[in-house]
Amino acid sequence: MTRSVLFGVFVLMILVACQPSQKPTNDIDQKVNDLLSKMTLEEKVGQMNQYTGFYDITGPAPADGDAKNKYDHIKSGLVGSMLNVRGVSEVRKMQQLAVDSSRLGIPMIFGFDVIHGHKTLSPIPLAEAASWDLEAIEKSARIAAVEATAEGLNWTFAPMVDISRDPRWGRVMEGAGEDTYLGSKIGVARVRGFQGDDLSAVNTLAACAKHFAAYGFVEGGRDYNTVDIGTATLYNVVLPPFKAAIEEANVRTFMNSFNIINGIPSTASNFLLRDILKGEWGFDGFVISDWSSGAEMIAHGYAKDLEQVAELAANAGSDMDMESYSFVKHLVNLVNSGKVKESVVDDAVSRVLRVKFELGLFDDPYKYCDEEREKEMIYHPDHMAAALDMAKKSIVLLKNENALLPLSKNQKKIALIGDLADDKDSPLGNWRMAGESNTAVSVLEGLQEFGADVSFAEGVKLVTGPTAFPIELEVNTTDKSGIKEAVKLAKKSDVVVMVLGEHGLHSGEARSRSDLNLPGLQQELLEEVYKVNQNIVLVLMNGRPLTINWADENLPAIIEAWQLGTQSGKAIAQVLFGDYNPSGKLPMTFPRNVAHIPVYYNQFNSGRPAREGSAIFWPHYMDQSHEPLYPFGYGLSYSTFDYSNLKVNVTGPENVEVSVTVQNTGDVDGEEVVQLYIHDKVASIVRPVKELKGFNKVMIKAGDKAEVNFTLTKKELGFYNGTGEFLFEPGEFDVMVGSNSTDGLKSSFEL
Ligand code: GLC
Repeated sequence: MTRSVLFGVFVLMILVACQPSQKPTNDIDQKVNDLLSKMTLEEKVGQMNQYTGFYDITGPAPADGDAKNKYDHIKSGLVGSMLNVRGVSEVRKMQQLAVDSSRLGIPMIFGFDVIHGHKTLSPIPLAEAASWDLEAIEKSARIAAVEATAEGLNWTFAPMVDISRDPRWGRVMEGAGEDTYLGSKIGVARVRGFQGDDLSAVNTLAACAKHFAAYGFVEGGRDYNTVDIGTATLYNVVLPPFKAAIEEANVRTFMNSFNIINGIPSTASNFLLRDILKGEWGFDGFVISDWSSGAEMIAHGYAKDLEQVAELAANAGSDMDMESYSFVKHLVNLVNSGKVKESVVDDAVSRVLRVKFELGLFDDPYKYCDEEREKEMIYHPDHMAAALDMAKKSIVLLKNENALLPLSKNQKKIALIGDLADDKDSPLGNWRMAGESNTAVSVLEGLQEFGADVSFAEGVKLVTGPTAFPIELEVNTTDKSGIKEAVKLAKKSDVVVMVLGEHGLHSGEARSRSDLNLPGLQQELLEEVYKVNQNIVLVLMNGRPLTINWADENLPAIIEAWQLGTQSGKAIAQVLFGDYNPSGKLPMTFPRNVAHIPVYYNQFNSGRPAREGSAIFWPHYMDQSHEPLYPFGYGLSYSTFDYSNLKVNVTGPENVEVSVTVQNTGDVDGEEVVQLYIHDKVASIVRPVKELKGFNKVMIKAGDKAEVNFTLTKKELGFYNGTGEFLFEPGEFDVMVGSNSTDGLKSSFEL
């Protein structure tokens, strides 16, 4: 070997020797590995175990629950997390048990359902979705995180990103509606709001994409029921919001769903958890089960006992067990017997520890326990202002004949009718959790604060009996005694504002309804009032689309006000009197009746779409229109907007630029959500007749014009086939740009 070669080899050896040892990907992984190496198997399993505290029961507590052992288990390092413990002093107490008493002092992570605000409540998530305002939605989540962390919490079980087309399902109130593109954008905004820019900051929370997956497709809209959908729907409709939460917002945790997927409970679905989530998507956070979803595999008929639950769930990729007690009871034995490899436990525990390190809990387990911050942040005036802004933006104007709205500010003799009109609790919606009862501004208070000359009559009670969570509501179907007084008031009034809809607990988990009409005696009240005064503005207060056909046919004005949270009454008053020009658009289709469900905008064409000469041979009903009462993306304004000059330019094999001119032809400034839909006309699997692939919410001054631009790329134009392969196929596409999913300027392009 020549001298020069020897010298080269020598130099190379020096260089290699100076390389840092193969460190884990980052310091946190090093810390995780170091800690893991010190842990016993029992301590590792403890990190995979979560117990509920005693504040809020959000599921069926198991009869033989380990409530009696909870504190002992925490002190022995057998509890990695608590849920439903809140408040600085309580969190500190629990954390001290873990940190001071257990051998390694591993801090617990405290999870809670921070769904739409914490103490200051924002509108229910479905209402926020109606704003189509991603910045406002992110800010809403940010504020929720600031308040929740001020109460000691560091993990929220949100956002719920389940797509659903079935308003019978009570949990539609908790998501972003029926559309995957909108739902993905909103899910990302919420995760970014919760997690902020720095997860180790004292006012940021780990977020949780839930419920993985397809929970929104429960049959019959009955909660916890069977789900049976094709894989093309799974890949194209259900999974994208979860994938976006990882890829565009780095969500740190996932939660399983209660339902089966292809016959296997999600909690033990290798396909979902290992193949897709941790495999294809490379998710490096951790997965928690839903409340007892592990133990429920026995009822599903997938596990014979709790030991097999633990084996199946752990091996499939569930990393933490909420309220099944399966891991804490059986995982050590399962590892010792070889049914679960210790490497499976190590992977799960590493994921949990990684998030705890990222949150800074090892640096200071009590960083979230600051009494001063708790006092300062809860109900902060800035939070109340943001909640009002979000509420106004969430309101959808459904009808406004003869410009009855906005009411003039010196409008005299307004009759305000309906039990919900002075209800300070229902506007808080379900999943208010830490929110305090009766803290909403009612519509009556909002109108009075506005200085309106308003007289109130309840009409009919909406519910009777106790309403405390989690009991069934008793709807009033007999006591009509208040109708007479309401009619009398309406008769002598110039305009009637009727606030009708659902009680705050008529929607949410375990709140499925088989009838979507106005509950109880409200419709009768409405029609009795209408007989004496047709000048009615209906303000809907509800947690899901309702079948308000009669109102749509007969009333001059309808506002969809959902459940708008703490500032509800103020927001509604500002819209009624025109201080805010409503800009919301429906995130979910309104059916004509329950039999119409599922009805959604992005349906397939079928082989017999309605066409000339088809006589009766097409997908229709003999006895009613198949068109929705109100379509996805629909919403009016006090302005009017004119669309013109649609331009479509193919600027590359995978790039299309679209532009349109929108003019505010009204006499007040207003915001318009300009929506872009595509239709891939021929593809290797059939594609929906239209799909939302872009939207821009723009403020346009009265009389002004705005040019709105969109870019379509492979990401928007592609789709998944039934095996999860993402395809982008050249061909002909229709494009529509407009103010909702049915009306707009049309064009086409070819790639
Ligand atoms: C509930 C819900 C889930 C929630 C969890 C903890 O059953 O399904 O969304 O986060 O339990 O409260």
